[in-house]
Amino acid sequence: MSCFNANKTCWNCPAAVFKGNVDFRACGQSQDEIKAKLGDEGQIMIECARRPDLGYFEPSITFEQCPEWIEGEYGLQLKNMRVMILGMDGYLGWALALKLGRMGFQVSGIDNYTRRDTVAEKGAHTIVPIERMTERLHAASEIYGLNFNYRRMDIRERDHLAAFLDEVKPEAIVHYAEIPSAPYSMVDADHAIEVQDNNTLGTLGLLWLIKDIVPETSLIKLGTMGEYGAPLTGRPLFEGMFPADATLTWRGREWSLGGEITPRDPVSFYHVSKVQDTYNVYESCKYWWLRSYDVQQGVIYGVHTEETAKDPRLRTRFDIDEWFGTVINRFVAQAIAGIPLTIYGTGEQIKGFIALEDAMECMVRLITSPPEPGQYDVVNQVSGIHKLNEIAEIIAKVGKKHGLKVEIQRVENPRVETEVHPLEIVSRKLPRELGFNPTVLVEKEIDRVFTLLMQPELTSRIKEKAHTIMPKTRWTGEKKDSGVIEKYKPGEKTYGDHHGVLDTE
Ligand SMILES: NC(=O)c1ccc[n+]([C@@H]2O[C@H](COP(=O)([O-])OP(=O)(O)OC[C@H]3O[C@@H](n4cnc5c(N)ncnc54)[C@H](O)[C@@H]3O)[C@@H](O)[C@H]2O)c1
Repeated sequence: MSCFNANKTCWNCPAAVFKGNVDFRACGQSQDEIKAKLGDEGQIMIECARRPDLGYFEPSITFEQCPEWIEGEYGLQLKNMRVMILGMDGYLGWALALKLGRMGFQVSGIDNYTRRDTVAEKGAHTIVPIERMTERLHAASEIYGLNFNYRRMDIRERDHLAAFLDEVKPEAIVHYAEIPSAPYSMVDADHAIEVQDNNTLGTLGLLWLIKDIVPETSLIKLGTMGEYGAPLTGRPLFEGMFPADATLTWRGREWSLGGEITPRDPVSFYHVSKVQDTYNVYESCKYWWLRSYDVQQGVIYGVHTEETAKDPRLRTRFDIDEWFGTVINRFVAQAIAGIPLTIYGTGEQIKGFIALEDAMECMVRLITSPPEPGQYDVVNQVSGIHKLNEIAEIIAKVGKKHGLKVEIQRVENPRVETEVHPLEIVSRKLPRELGFNPTVLVEKEIDRVFTLLMQPELTSRIKEKAHTIMPKTRWTGEKKDSGVIEKYKPGEKTYGDHHGVLDTE
């Protein structure tokens, strides 16, 4: 078999317990140092938590050779792999739980419902109705025969989370449990502090629990492309670290930058919380030999996955309010509500995007190809890049097919951000090392969103909450409407001719 993870070995497998003859988790020892120290005296030995009968052995069995790794939808997967989803009630968490469950993973999860509460605080609701968690779990069991091990819990309740981790012993942890809104973090001091407390301290506490309870687990931690900002120099946004051949020259001298963390330039207090997480996760991989993928995820859009579309009770949430709606999802709702699509400022901002269904596939591939102990790895999870004004044009075009007359408006930008900038995103690991090829075209997913949202019940849910769409939260802390700069019809306007670059080769 030649799939992307066939040649990974016990080094990558979370069932391998590295405790034979080496204190792997002693501070400050690199894998190379340990291997060098061992020299001729011995090999690195492991025990397998799944196959204790093997005793101690060298960690050299490939996934392809190991009977615990079986053929799955995308390459090999660990039989009944135990995956814990933190933030399982959320937009992504629920879709991922269903997908993993259907693929044969043993799924557990927690949520504290802060997303439901904060959307309610805005006076909004999810446009696609979602059930309470008890009903969701019941429907997943009835429709797919799934039995999720779910608890209501805040990740900052460390005693409770410790007990749950000890009970489940997850082999991978997907960490979605953060407050994901830039505007929410800019409302006032209370909101900014809440976001940073929830996200940064929640993650920091989690790292200590992983170290003590499940150090072999693979942590898939969600960051965002917004951590990088958009450097005006046009420097590519590498995947977290500079490539081996990057150099810095200054006054006739030259240094290698290879392997160093690239600069971050976050664009809100929410994004700052993600940058702080990045350093905390990076450090714990270094100090304690934890392993993690830090996923710098583009803006997610859409509603469709095979599982969420199966039954209305399995649908995932879909928000459009100014705090929690992401741009494509909001624009479709605006088109339906008859509100001209609101481009902030020039609309020349370039962003990385990925459809919900593609993002879920990426997560499965990351879960089934864990990093080695001590390895902190970053992937840029993006399948396309677009300027905001182009997105508005695409949505207007698809909306027209659905019989809608869509207008576009430029409004004063409530954010502090660079509006005209180069952008080159490097996203090579997912396509080249993890076998991912995006399958969802942006028009196709937008079309699905229109089809779903134009059901009368959903259209009236949009209209009921249309007042929550327009931006009122400014980065200055003020609360006021953004004035309209101009209004125009799709196709009427010529845009700047700079474009972003997505480097997947
Ligand atoms: N949706 C996107 O476009 C996007 C883009 C980039 C990154 N991300 C990141 O992906 C992750 C998931 O995003 P999402 O869109 O599904 O958001 P979401 O708000 O729908 O999901 C997060 C879930 O975590 C829960 N949660 C938050 N804090 C918690 C805590 N302290 N304890 C327990 N549960 C908690 C929330 O109630 C929510 O259900 C977030 O970390 C977000 O920053 C999302």
